[in-house]
Amino acid sequence: MKKKMVTALLAVSMLAGLSAVNVMAADDDTITVGFSQVGAESDWRTANTESMKSTFSEDNGYELIFDDAQQKQENQLTAIRNFIQQEVDYIVLAPVTETGWDTVLQEAKDAGIPVIIVDRMVDVSDDSLYTAWVGSNFKLEGQKAMAWLDAYLEAKGRGDEEINLVDIQGTIGASAQIGRTEGLEEAAKENGWNIVDQQTGEFTQAKGQEVMESMLKKHDNINVVYCENDNEAFGAIDAIEAAGKKVGPDGDILVMSFDTTNAGLTDTLSGKIICNTECNPLHGPRVQEIIEKLEAGEDVDKIAYVDEEMFAFDDTVKTVTVGDKDFDVTAISQEIIDGRAY
Ligand code: AHR
Repeated sequence: MKKKMVTALLAVSMLAGLSAVNVMAADDDTITVGFSQVGAESDWRTANTESMKSTFSEDNGYELIFDDAQQKQENQLTAIRNFIQQEVDYIVLAPVTETGWDTVLQEAKDAGIPVIIVDRMVDVSDDSLYTAWVGSNFKLEGQKAMAWLDAYLEAKGRGDEEINLVDIQGTIGASAQIGRTEGLEEAAKENGWNIVDQQTGEFTQAKGQEVMESMLKKHDNINVVYCENDNEAFGAIDAIEAAGKKVGPDGDILVMSFDTTNAGLTDTLSGKIICNTECNPLHGPRVQEIIEKLEAGEDVDKIAYVDEEMFAFDDTVKTVTVGDKDFDVTAISQEIIDGRAY
């Protein structure tokens, strides 16, 4: 609860002739959360923002101070310092990139404000600078996608074909980029696939399209496009089609993606995206659970990975194996898309 707000409420209540005790009791229950969001670069991000806003609502007993950093770390640093000044109860940070957080998180720690990291990770020298993290295993997402490609090519009798991949990467230095790129690079090496180009599409549709256009001009042998999120895939598909090429199982190029948003899965249903690996954005209730446990004085997991699914155009590949774990692949249907929340 912010001290300044209590003072203001007390002043207003006294003027209105209300009992100061009642006001204190009501306000005491409100938990103030400062949330520094990356931006609004993708459909995934929009769903994530919506999940946080609907969870940390007044009705649920929260005051949410939301800040959109427009994909810039300096804006996130300013937002966190503002949250500290405002004496919020909790800081929630969805970091744009992994590095560069030590100083500001030390400031939050010195102010006694717990920090919960959500979605992407931070790379800090001292992990006591944050209380808990919840998000995706981005490398595993990349490994699952690549295991799918391997199994699909084998099943289609294309196991010996020359595979020329391009990688439209996410924001460089973001965990989602680092993990998905690593998953791709390791599998390409293992399977003898060529990565003919890699450039960032910054997780946006516009940049995904621009990058794909330039890659198509440079290379005439691309047969797989690995997009590190759905919005980049939408842009890449537009660029490929505009260049007179066909995407899909019977086309020239297979497009792969991550996120499994409604629009992404709709393109998976048509085969334009051949395989789509889930990255779940519905973190609001997960962060709320952490805060509730902390409020009750209970221990919380330092690191919590979310379970995620995989969807493909058809049922050619039913499961993939990464390490010693099997993961189901679901052939997408309109019914599945209609039943999903994002
Ligand atoms: O960090 C999660 C990634 O960020 C999602 O894949 C992407 O769509 C978002 O912008």
